[in-house]
Amino acid sequence: MQNACAACHVQNEDGRWERIDAARKTPEGWDMTVTRMMRNHGVALTPEERTAIVRHLSDTRGLSLTETAERRYILEREPVAWDEGPDTQMTQTCGRCHSYARVALQRRTPEDWKHLVNFHLGQFPTLEYQALARDRDWWGIAQAEIIPFLAEHYPLGKAPAPFTGDASGDYVLAGRQPGRGDYTGRLVLKKAGEDYEVTMTLDFADSSQSFTGTGRILGAGEWRATLSDGKTAIRQVLAFENGHFSGRWYHADSDVIGGRLEAVRADASPLVLAAAPARLKIGEETLVRVAGTGLGEALTLPEGVTGSVESAADGVAVLKLTASGAPGPISIELGGQKVDLVAYDRPDRISITPETTIARIGGNGGPIPKVPAQFEALGWLNGPDGQPDTGDDIPLGAFPASWATVDFDAEAEKMQDAKFAGSISDTGLFTPAGAGPNPERPMQTNNAGNLKVIATVETETGPLSAEAHLYATVQRFVDAPIR
Ligand code: HEC
Ligand code: HEC
Repeated sequence: MQNACAACHVQNEDGRWERIDAARKTPEGWDMTVTRMMRNHGVALTPEERTAIVRHLSDTRGLSLTETAERRYILEREPVAWDEGPDTQMTQTCGRCHSYARVALQRRTPEDWKHLVNFHLGQFPTLEYQALARDRDWWGIAQAEIIPFLAEHYPLGKAPAPFTGDASGDYVLAGRQPGRGDYTGRLVLKKAGEDYEVTMTLDFADSSQSFTGTGRILGAGEWRATLSDGKTAIRQVLAFENGHFSGRWYHADSDVIGGRLEAVRADASPLVLAAAPARLKIGEETLVRVAGTGLGEALTLPEGVTGSVESAADGVAVLKLTASGAPGPISIELGGQKVDLVAYDRPDRISITPETTIARIGGNGGPIPKVPAQFEALGWLNGPDGQPDTGDDIPLGAFPASWATVDFDAEAEKMQDAKFAGSISDTGLFTPAGAGPNPERPMQTNNAGNLKVIATVETETGPLSAEAHLYATVQRFVDAPIR
């Protein structure tokens, strides 16, 4: 800091640095600021120095996991199209160029929130002439309402103490990669200097994949790692607290592809992480894989369920179960631990996740790759009230489906969006079309399109279908660690 920052940021007599001690941010937030110091203000840092400064700032001026809980999706690069502020005015003022999560993942003094608003107008003077700003007194509103709101809801407060323990050990994990399936597995960490050597093994129902690499814990418990299986580089963005990891991993060059994961120390007190599948088709034998710790072999089954433990080792128990009763939730016990399952005949309805999302055209000789979209069909029981889409519906998990895209509305039909914008595979993966003008389209427009995605799940009593909304839009030309 003395070498790299002191030339412009004064360190006061009390040791506090101007601007730098007026804010707390996530590691990605600090990295964006340090990158701007380099890009806009000519600060010269080697990659090692940049990493060291971001680590130091994250450790001393970070957020607690509670403070980030609601907005971690943006750090995890979850492909969400939904991101809103606490009200329309905040969303329109501070959540239209970038996510509102970028705002909500910072804490500042009232004065520093004011500096940030000044910085925006100074750096982006056209801000006041853009949509959702030129129809109102933007500056007046920002001064009178936005800055006080930010100061009240995201005050500087105190930085949490950084994690100083040793997270080395053997962890049992479970999760799901949309489009591919559920997995159990292992995460093994070994401390190496300030970092960790990491191995992650994902055991899918039909195959296994193993990754190795390096990770680190920043601040109170922000785990960041880069791993590879020799072909594909992946990143892990996890929260670490009390021996428990939780978050997401994704392909470094295509962050839509990835999965959520939970992991606990293999020697932790007994805990069930997940059961997959968590549903039993009535009258059929189902192999259920339960991941967790302290999984005993004693199986207690309720009336209407029969079965046995096929195997139990290394944090995974395989159960062979058959339900014969009525559809609905069932609770079994394995080694004294409760495992929640659902018995069903057929789903009452299906839905698609995500309900709304974005894919981006790309490639075609251009520098920005295509951004795909991954959909899954989820099955549901109507629950006790017998009504679809109410609070008591019971989730059955993902079902294999057949997939199609159609024009979203009359305008899309006129432009033949479904024909040009891309195609969807039988695993629900939408691959957008190439970037650039298309001579076959009116006015040689690009291959963007407004699409309805339709999933159809076959059941013995007929097909069930559901719809989702997909914007196949243009490239993201500027991509930041926090979008
Ligand atoms: C050459 C001058 C210069 C140096 C060196 C410099 N900064 Fe800055 N810094 C600025 C200017 C100018 C601003 C205000 C404009 C802006 O935010 O980009 C700023 C703003 C900031 C802010 C407030 C931005 C915000 O919105 O939170 C932080 C934090 C910061 N700098 C951190 C650093 C750190 C850390 C270093 C050392 C790695 C550093 N700066 C080095 C010039 C500098
Ligand atoms: C005109 C588009 C635009 C609007 C509107 C906008 N921002 Fe930004 N904001 C940006 C851009 C671009 C950056 C990235 C600056 C950089 O680091 O190069 C940014 C960065 C930020 C950052 C990170 C800065 C840092 O260094 O930590 C925060 C926090 C932020 N904006 C908050 C806000 C708030 C609060 C509002 C509403 C008052 C707002 N933004 C409105 C474009 C916008």
